[in-house]
Amino acid sequence: MKQQPKIIIAIDGYSSTGKSSFAKLIAERLGYIHLDSGALYRAVTLHGLRNGTIANGKIDAEALVATLPGLEVSQRPDTYIGEENVEGLIRQMEVSSYVSPVSAIPAVRVFVDDNLHKMASGGGVVMDGRDIGTTVFPNAELKIFMQADEMVRAMRRYKETTDPGTTFIDVLHNLRDRDLRDSTRDVSPLRKADDAIVLDNTCMTMDQEIQWLVDLLNSKYGFSL
Ligand code: DC
Repeated sequence: MKQQPKIIIAIDGYSSTGKSSFAKLIAERLGYIHLDSGALYRAVTLHGLRNGTIANGKIDAEALVATLPGLEVSQRPDTYIGEENVEGLIRQMEVSSYVSPVSAIPAVRVFVDDNLHKMASGGGVVMDGRDIGTTVFPNAELKIFMQADEMVRAMRRYKETTDPGTTFIDVLHNLRDRDLRDSTRDVSPLRKADDAIVLDNTCMTMDQEIQWLVDLLNSKYGFSL
């Protein structure tokens, strides 16, 4: 493959817009690394559930934050806690139901942002999340904001669910709840960066999304894909 420019591509958007799947495919196409920032918030949440600082519907934020210096998270590209691959565990409904309030804790955001900056230090990165273009990499060369119809998003997430007891309505409520919390929290709320380009994929296939991006990279960023 011809050497392509090494830029940072920030992809933000609502839950289940397909950000991570899209980001992963782009990264493969460009020979970039892909970082899924939501997975790190999920790993912190799993860690809290395991050490008891998250239990019975409550999060002891102070106690959880006190355990963060001992937490080693990485993406290679699956998400790891220490040497344990937790990619499957962090997608379970129990983690999903706590991850949004956990991600609103300022010290958790600092912890995740530090890890993201370390992992992205070589450039050539596609990173997806809620605040990548606004907070984590405000100078990213390309910012994309993804959106899609709510029912379409809930159905996509429902099809991926591995918990046998989870219904479509559970998934829809969780998605609505997270969108509301993520966009109304005090620290780094989900919002479109002023210079982000909107990609609405309600009626698009993944191939069409990739082609849209390839055309953009070729025409505006000097790529030859
Ligand atoms: O993308 P996801 O659904 O796996 O993200 C899980 C949660 O993490 C989401 O509800 C909000 C939070 N998150 C965040 O606050 N900031 C990010 N950059 C990424 C995710």
